[in-house]
Amino acid sequence: MTDKLTIPRHIAIVMDGNGRWARAKHRPRLLGHKKGVEAVREIVKTCAKLNVECLSLFAFSSENWKRPEEEISNLMSLFMLALEREAKALARNNVRLQIIGDLSQFSEKLQQKIKQVEDLTADSDGLKLVVAANYGGRWDVTQATKSIAQKVVDKDLNIDDISEDDICESVSTYGIPDPDLFIRTGGEKRISNFLIWQMAYTELYFTDVLWPDFDANELNLAITDYSSRQRRFGKTSEQVLAEKNGEGE
Ligand code: IPE
Ligand code: IPE
Ligand code: MG
Repeated sequence: MTDKLTIPRHIAIVMDGNGRWARAKHRPRLLGHKKGVEAVREIVKTCAKLNVECLSLFAFSSENWKRPEEEISNLMSLFMLALEREAKALARNNVRLQIIGDLSQFSEKLQQKIKQVEDLTADSDGLKLVVAANYGGRWDVTQATKSIAQKVVDKDLNIDDISEDDICESVSTYGIPDPDLFIRTGGEKRISNFLIWQMAYTELYFTDVLWPDFDANELNLAITDYSSRQRRFGKTSEQVLAEKNGEGE
């Protein structure tokens, strides 16, 4: 069934709806987050099976520090636990983990754990799993701007030579293709400061399904929808069709 699908090289997901999933069951929000980790496991496995090159998951935004202290502390503990529990399975399944975001705000212990799991999976050449933690698209563009400004100050780069490529090479997803498909679960239709620079031409898919209920079948629906899109990148529909049929420009 999947053989007619166009598999995106890079899928980016805003995993939203854990809290509402729990509330609907009259259970604490933490349970929703725990179920959310299980959904992550299934989606990682499915993406690896489909030969998706890169899966990036928004786990904690720069803005999520505004949540109640107890929820933040629960999320940090859960992140630590998930890293501890999943590290070996990731390596075994040839998944390479990379965490992006301002990690300096995390505890020393969590930072060490992140480094440890990244190192453990560094030789994997299967699915690249990018987890965005204390990440914000505006933070990413800001830190890229700083590093470019430093190059100018150091006289390694002229202002007139600053190009889009320089920015691509300075944001935290350097080396990873831009997302082809963006998925947001939980019904909201917004990007919430995820990969704003990288998603200039990404296909957007929104579903009401809450993240803990998002499974392989739901992912398949998203990829099926994506497969029906015509990506034009500014060209006309006719041009794109002609190129597809091998007729050139
Ligand atoms: C997403 O679920 C997980 C994080 C932001 C960490 P939410 O916690 O935002 O769930 P809702 O939106 O309240 O349902
Ligand atoms: C976005 O979810 C961030 C993550 C999924 C980590 P939120 O639930 O925090 O998004 P907003 O603030 O409602 O847009
Ligand atoms: Mg939410």
